[in-house]
Amino acid sequence: MNNIYLIGFMGSGKSSVGEKLSLLLGYNYVDTDQAVEEAYNKKIVDIFSDEGEQAFRTYESKMLQKVSVGESVISTGGGLIESEQNIKEMKNAGIIIYLEASYNTIYNRLKTDLSRPLWNQNREKQEALYEKRIQLYRTCADEKFLTDDKTIDAIATEIKYHIVNNSN
Ligand code: S3P
Repeated sequence: MNNIYLIGFMGSGKSSVGEKLSLLLGYNYVDTDQAVEEAYNKKIVDIFSDEGEQAFRTYESKMLQKVSVGESVISTGGGLIESEQNIKEMKNAGIIIYLEASYNTIYNRLKTDLSRPLWNQNREKQEALYEKRIQLYRTCADEKFLTDDKTIDAIATEIKYHIVNNSN
């Protein structure tokens, strides 16, 4: 087993679950959003407003390549799967796990969140993005885990058992 990539919509719990899963498995933990913010010394919301979404996409793809070298749990930004090259990169270097959460769960978690530029849009646009993205997540994932009404610990434990039982 190489890397374990967590994909899913904004607010689906990738970072919290990823961190917990890495502890359970004894893997390194990487969060691509956090790594981009540290590398460029800038908040994502500021990268979007100063340089535009495309610049952010370039930074996150470069970061994905950089961090895909070892044996890590890697939480990815919700839009990273919009690039086919990124999907190829993840498929080549590990397993892709989709954390699925319903729109209502996401909405309740993120209704006051201002740190995600693509969430800070009207409800119609949020729903359209959600519908478009879930097709992409489902298509590129090796495994899907349902996360509604589950704790971070429960989801991480479920994924750990799946990984351990399928590692031979
Ligand atoms: C994005 C999701 C965010 C972050 C950026 C763009 C997206 O990450 O990468 O705001 O396009 O869905 P999270 O999924 O960790 O919120």
